[in-house]
Amino acid sequence: MKIYIAQAHSGESSPPLNLGFGGKDGTMKSTSLVIRPGTSDDLDAFFELYWMSSLEHTHYSGQLDSLKPKQRCRKYIIDRQREFLKDANYFFLVAEKDNNILGMVTGHVGDRDEAAIYAIERLGFIDEVCVSPEHRKHGVGKRLIKALLEQLYDTGVGYVGVGVAFKNPAFHFYRTQGFTPEGLWLIQKEQSFQKKKTKR
Ligand SMILES: CC(C)(COP(=O)(O)OP(=O)(O)OC[C@H]1O[C@@H](n2cnc3c(N)ncnc32)[C@H](O)[C@@H]1OP(=O)(O)O)[C@@H](O)C(=O)NCCC(=O)NCCS
Repeated sequence: MKIYIAQAHSGESSPPLNLGFGGKDGTMKSTSLVIRPGTSDDLDAFFELYWMSSLEHTHYSGQLDSLKPKQRCRKYIIDRQREFLKDANYFFLVAEKDNNILGMVTGHVGDRDEAAIYAIERLGFIDEVCVSPEHRKHGVGKRLIKALLEQLYDTGVGYVGVGVAFKNPAFHFYRTQGFTPEGLWLIQKEQSFQKKKTKR
């Protein structure tokens, strides 16, 4: 089950990102974490993190064999992300330390469903966020999300939303970042439908 959660723009802008280069004395701190725009050189790392996150999602949904083979998905996901790199409405950031990609986040701005009806049409979306397991709980995800939100709100949208599986601990991560549940996606298993039918 997915919950749709959203964050509204407070109007305050965050302090500039610490990109981790250079201390007060001007020396380079090569060990600092850097949040930077993702490029075509990062697409392999992007896919590995994307895949890791997808495997975790199948775990939360209980559909353990629902993913197609990794190699079949790889080209599709990388090609799609390569196209997004050319589109100004799409955002891709990576967290890098010592030449290693520790995490990534992607998002876009676009019209909400039924934009022809609702007054709030354009909003920001968080599409993917993943930090490699050994680097979690050290603030990497927070820095990635903050940098993405900065870019999304800079486009003028008033809200940013994300869909997250109900059982995914990332739900708590988003809550710490100021997102609140605004909707709930319900699913019914066929088994439950059949069970109800026989009771009638
Ligand atoms: C969700 C995810 C990106 C968080 O990244 P992270 O680097 O571990 O997060 P941070 O260390 O920056 O944590 C930021 C805050 O979220 C909280 N948080 C992070 N993971 C949490 C968890 N599993 N349960 C509860 N709270 C959590 C932290 O305690 C922290 O709170 P604070 O700001 O009050 O101190 C990471 O767990 C991940 O990659 N998960 C797998 C992919 C996934 O599910 N993505 C979401 C798809 S919708």
